[in-house]
Amino acid sequence: MEILRAAGDVWAPDLDRQLQPEELREVGAGANALVALLGDRIDAELLDAAGAGLQVVANVAVGHDNIDLPAARERGVVVTNTPGVLTDATADLAMALILAVTRRLGEGERLVRSESGWEWGIDFMLGRGIQGQTLGIVGLGAIGSAVARRALGFGMSIAYASRNPAPGEADLGVRRMELDELLATTDVVSLHVPLTNETRHLIDARRLGLMRPAAYLVNTARGPVVDEAALADSLAAGQIAGAGLDVFEAEPTVHPRLLELDNVVLLPHLGSATVETRTAMAVLAARNAVAVLSGEGAITQVP
Ligand code: 8YV
Repeated sequence: MEILRAAGDVWAPDLDRQLQPEELREVGAGANALVALLGDRIDAELLDAAGAGLQVVANVAVGHDNIDLPAARERGVVVTNTPGVLTDATADLAMALILAVTRRLGEGERLVRSESGWEWGIDFMLGRGIQGQTLGIVGLGAIGSAVARRALGFGMSIAYASRNPAPGEADLGVRRMELDELLATTDVVSLHVPLTNETRHLIDARRLGLMRPAAYLVNTARGPVVDEAALADSLAAGQIAGAGLDVFEAEPTVHPRLLELDNVVLLPHLGSATVETRTAMAVLAARNAVAVLSGEGAITQVP
């Protein structure tokens, strides 16, 4: 806010609720820059309501599926995001979910809190160890690579699926394969693709059906990459062993059948939620907005 205020007049909403599209259009009218969060839908209508003076939309996120990029481009509006600064926090959370679901941490926590009593036993609440298992990374960008590095430290081997061979593949010691093969052969699948028309429901009923009964699915990318109803079916039927989800198809709503399942760890989109990371994201977004307005050019422009 200090960075923005030093550059001009700033309007900011109360942070306790999401603005409705009509409210966004009203407050955005005449703005030169919009600093947006994931839940703010930046569409042609909003861009038009802002008017010809709008120069930049600075998203406080690395993902930008909330923004109509062609509409922004047509109107000459620069779009920026916050890559890099959230890579480690998000990779940490993916790793946390991998451990949480394979070691049944959610279930264990609920059991202790229920005060229904428990007793240690040789076969009490056994999970699966990840050492020696294979992690399948879908989308080996910055976050996928950071997860790979962490998982190597836990003794996992890494396979990945992505449209193009990743630079640094050899350094990381990872192996590329087709998505279907990755799903059919790996023990834990972690999703790190952006949400686009091609990745919407990338993990659908057919692809879930390829996974092994002992395999786990982790999603810290975007909810709609997975067909949530199909995932609930697959988990309920024991087609896969469990899932760790930080993102959902219609946040903050979670598919009701997922809520009933014990073998799913559910988090409220916490990927980048550390004080350090959110501060770095906010600062980068504000600097992007100011850089465009001052004519210097964006620091991290969405191509
Ligand atoms: C943010 C994210 O919490 O950066 C992203 O794409 O999903 C998260 O880091 C969220 O987008 C904040 O707007």
